Amino acid sequence: MKYLLIVFFFPAFLFAQKKQINIIPVPVSLQQTEGAFIINEQTQIEFSTQSKQLQSAANFLRNTIHEISGLSLPINKKAKQKIQLALIKDAAIGEEGYQLIVSTNAIHIKANTPAGIIYGMQTLLQTLPAVRTNAKLTVPCMQVTDYPRFKWRGMHLDVSRHFFGPNVIKQYLDLLATYKFNTFHWHLVDDQGWRIEIKKYPALTNTGAWRVDQTNLVWGSRPQAKEVEAPTYGGYYTQAQIKEIIAYAAERNISVVPEIEMPGHVASAIASYPFLSCTQQSQLPLTGGNYTNMASNYCAGNDSVFHFLEDVLTEVIQLFPSKYIHIGGDEVDKTSWKKCAKCQQRIRKENLKDEDELQSYFIKRIEKFVTSKKRKIIGWDEILEGGLAPDATVMSWRGEAGGIAAAKMKHDVVMTPGNPVYFDHYQGDPASEPIAIGGFNTLKKVYDYEPLPKELSETEAKYVLGAQANLWTEYVTTPKQVEYMVLPRMLALSEVLWSPTKMKDWVGFNERLQQHFKGFDQRGLNYSKGNFKVDIKPILKEGKLYAILSTEAYKGQVYYTTNGDQPSIKSYLYESPVEINSSVTIKAATVVNSELKSVVPAEQQFALHKAIGKKVNYTHPISRYYMADGPNSLTDGIKGTTAINKFWHGIAAKDLIATVDLEEEKNIQLLSLGCLQNYNDWIMMPEWVKFEVSLDGIHFTLVETVANTVSTNDKTAQIKNFTASFSSMKARFVRVTAKVLDQLPKGHSGEGKPAWIFADEFIVE
Ligand code: ACM
Ligand code: ZN
Repeated sequence: MKYLLIVFFFPAFLFAQKKQINIIPVPVSLQQTEGAFIINEQTQIEFSTQSKQLQSAANFLRNTIHEISGLSLPINKKAKQKIQLALIKDAAIGEEGYQLIVSTNAIHIKANTPAGIIYGMQTLLQTLPAVRTNAKLTVPCMQVTDYPRFKWRGMHLDVSRHFFGPNVIKQYLDLLATYKFNTFHWHLVDDQGWRIEIKKYPALTNTGAWRVDQTNLVWGSRPQAKEVEAPTYGGYYTQAQIKEIIAYAAERNISVVPEIEMPGHVASAIASYPFLSCTQQSQLPLTGGNYTNMASNYCAGNDSVFHFLEDVLTEVIQLFPSKYIHIGGDEVDKTSWKKCAKCQQRIRKENLKDEDELQSYFIKRIEKFVTSKKRKIIGWDEILEGGLAPDATVMSWRGEAGGIAAAKMKHDVVMTPGNPVYFDHYQGDPASEPIAIGGFNTLKKVYDYEPLPKELSETEAKYVLGAQANLWTEYVTTPKQVEYMVLPRMLALSEVLWSPTKMKDWVGFNERLQQHFKGFDQRGLNYSKGNFKVDIKPILKEGKLYAILSTEAYKGQVYYTTNGDQPSIKSYLYESPVEINSSVTIKAATVVNSELKSVVPAEQQFALHKAIGKKVNYTHPISRYYMADGPNSLTDGIKGTTAINKFWHGIAAKDLIATVDLEEEKNIQLLSLGCLQNYNDWIMMPEWVKFEVSLDGIHFTLVETVANTVSTNDKTAQIKNFTASFSSMKARFVRVTAKVLDQLPKGHSGEGKPAWIFADEFIVE
């Protein structure tokens, strides 16, 4: 009754308004016209019986409409109005494209293939309610022509670190289907669990799928399990379940690519069959990230290992119709091969140069087998090391360099760089997010991603099949958390992969996204409401330092303070770059609809000093992964915080030696270098920091060497300023040397290996 009253008083013009269409990914072309088609009891689904292939599509549509309305639409029966599915020939829309034409008395979905029909239906379904409703099923009249930009539109899920049952996988596939992804990369094997039933080797799942439950401990700090503890945590998919999932995916035009890791990341297989490792000693499946003394590689010198893998792959290939079989190949610690007589014998016998070539031998031998079964291998970019297998497709995850190299070698490539498409990384301010593995891949970063690197020519770029987001699950332990990590970032990626570049529009995407959020709310899906962290960036303009404050939150505004107070809606509203004319701390927060959104304000110290904007010359180049804002980051007036990927310059295994030209002789009395220690990320304080000055840039005088006082075992992220103050002296050039810690301490996961130095800012006063 109440509802009726409200409707009654609604102004009439609202009803005349066109219903907004909010399709994600945005179609190539969509023209909305007057009127609407109402799906009701008089609607049937029709397809030509000549195209039997459409039966499954018709069933899918009928079932989905039934779920949201209770209607059971007849198929191929006489009825007043119809939803017609038809196969046509139209080269312009390609393999997966479609036309969707909605008029007041018919809906036509036309495509060259059933795949295209499925995508046309997905677009249609996006105009309907997300959950069961008694409301009319109104589809606005429109004409859509649509087809994807990329062939490989992938989402990955790691089910080894945490096992997710078949129903969770089906829900995940539903999300992929809604947003027109066509590839599900299923990471079925890793150190902490083997998840696929292999009939010939039952111990893989009887033993390898179960580990001692240490979910109460943080991943990286879990001790190795003991024999007396019961392995209760895990699970696996039977072959029958896998078949059902593959069929479920196929109905949605999703190809399921199984990943059978090798030769590393296989402690679970070794726990099941110790003969697979170099030492052949028995061990338990790993419980987390503590790998010390555990075997995790197959022995590359033992032919029985290859026979085992051929048996496993034979069953995998029988199960999975996918053209691609993912064979892993990443992060192989080759020390066990260095110590193994059989592996060394193989190196000699096959005339291999080293262990990198041994890995290449391993992958090539497996490729030969997979190719003999008429399938193709795909592997992580480490398969480039020691020589790429002849027909391998490369999945570039350590940035895009591997993908670029492979494309230049005329190999197919799938781009999946950690930044920005690792969805196990934070998407909002870590201060307000559930614990994640690190990194910061916000919705906007994903939206702005361009899978075709500038380094590739037009011909080379054709080898880039597409891109994929990966969800590793060390820190993702529940289905709700899976939803949270992919929603809404996978929607942004869907638009990157499907829509033409010229249609991309961040503001428009956010507007459409609001409707999808409503659907998530109705369906009880857990999703991130956005990144509310204000980004504070320095810029130098005509010798003056400014701060640019920005938020990527939809309809977000930025409020800030410069006096140390917490920002609120009573603080300054940010409108244009803030000039910095003294050493200050800016604190800033995002406000949406007058509501303060930042749980912890962004905070940035600015230091006004004599080297600001001055050129820095590095003796050893800075890592290209840690360039901060470019070569002047050390002298940009902005001090690094413990959020590592922002303002720091990083360098691994070498001393950081930086010389600054002050452009004229200046009186100076203080030199200081800020450094970061972040034990878990292998970033350690330098052993000491040395400051030198010079008048001519050739002859340098030592000012002071400042020793480190932070313990190498201190695991708290912290910044130390190495500072020398002295009585005023004249200098034109100043040089700082930070001595790298050559060996990470005992007990560290990188024990004995050199550390990283992270430095910022080099202050001259
Ligand atoms: C990977 O993230 N190790 C492929
Ligand atoms: Zn070996």
